[in-house]
Amino acid sequence: MPSQVSPTILASPLKFPISGKVAPNRFLKSAMTERLCTYDQDNHDLRGKPTPEYIELYEQWGKGAIGIIVLGNLPVDRTALEAKKNAIIDKRSSWDPVEAFKPVIAASKRHGSLVIGQLTHGGRQTPSDINPHPVSSSDIQNPDGMGMTFAKPRPMTLAEIDDLVDSFAFAAEVLYKAGADGAQLHAAHGYLLSQFLSGRVNKRTDNYGGSLENRSRIVFRIFEEIKRRVPANDFLLSIKMNSADFAEGGFTDEESAKIAIMLEAAGVELIELSGGTYESGAFSHKKDSTIKREAFFIEFADRIRPTLKTAKLAVTGGFRSVGPMEEALAEKSCDFIGLARPLTADPFFCKDIISGAQLHAAENKVNPSMQTATSVYQIKTIATGKPIPDLSIQEVADSTLQAALSG
Ligand SMILES: Cc1cc2nc3c(=O)[nH]c(=O)nc-3n(C[C@H](O)[C@H](O)[C@H](O)COP(=O)(O)O)c2cc1C
Repeated sequence: MPSQVSPTILASPLKFPISGKVAPNRFLKSAMTERLCTYDQDNHDLRGKPTPEYIELYEQWGKGAIGIIVLGNLPVDRTALEAKKNAIIDKRSSWDPVEAFKPVIAASKRHGSLVIGQLTHGGRQTPSDINPHPVSSSDIQNPDGMGMTFAKPRPMTLAEIDDLVDSFAFAAEVLYKAGADGAQLHAAHGYLLSQFLSGRVNKRTDNYGGSLENRSRIVFRIFEEIKRRVPANDFLLSIKMNSADFAEGGFTDEESAKIAIMLEAAGVELIELSGGTYESGAFSHKKDSTIKREAFFIEFADRIRPTLKTAKLAVTGGFRSVGPMEEALAEKSCDFIGLARPLTADPFFCKDIISGAQLHAAENKVNPSMQTATSVYQIKTIATGKPIPDLSIQEVADSTLQAALSG
């Protein structure tokens, strides 16, 4: 074995049974909004186009020995963004998305990573300065928060639901034609698909609301339509979903466990577990018992992993050290270690773990509730070739947070 490759389970490849895709190791870079693409407030056609900075970011992550790179959320509707400057694949754009996304996918794959695009729709969680007339499963408004305001949504019509299915499938086909290895539906963190799954937000009385089967119908329709358009033996289907919403009346862990089995039956090969919504907060520990194991949702993973026969499981949120990562794989809690914030502090973190150069992510001294802002700031430095602020130094953490909030 070459000396730079440690024989750990983290470095072992894994083959997906349906698509035949092989991840070179067990790290998954979880989707992170980049906010580096074009944006125009009035002309929607000028939104969401990849830029040289966006491509450069993935050149860097592509060098980082990351088994699977998930591109940050890609809205399939240019009026339903998570934030300004999102990369977008909207079937109405006059520019060719296949050509536009080829370079970023090629950059991500250049050194052997698999690359998957995360498809999304903001729904009621679209900031009101981007869209003052959002749609959702129902008309229940998202409370303002995280420095954003959200307008009252209107429930989608059945014709709009049909069109949404088409928009997601169009975007998946674009990813396939542009060279991506798969697509991931973003059904976590309170965005539109999670607004359908949640009994707290979804108050519909038609075929898309009520029972779990009805609330999840839209997700299965999208996967069916993607399979109709893109060859399953060459394209990996994935979903990021909440293990729970952590909100009363929201999507529960029992529901999540049931859906995981249904997703596997529908040909989904990679389930990424996360948790929470903007309302409940997500990216921190919900239970004392998981602190030692680092990953916030690992106990839920323990429950559902044995029920899955073919689908692979990634757990994202909290992993920082080699010990708990190896343990999670060795004990078969999951198949992939999802990472987000450690990879904005250091795009080569996975490579350094595999070579034995690092055992822990650097500490992050920013208040956890503000770390998305500082990670977005770090992303911009990576994309523009500037030094990445070292957030383990308190003064740098403070000044970076100030710069992130004023920028
Ligand atoms: C800057 C930033 C942007 C994020 N954007 C997305 C996103 O576009 N889609 C998504 O599913 N999760 C997003 N997340 C959540 C991460 O993918 C991940 O689930 C969360 O940060 C927990 O993982 P960590 O503890 O390794 O950071 C984002 C997180 C950060 C820090």
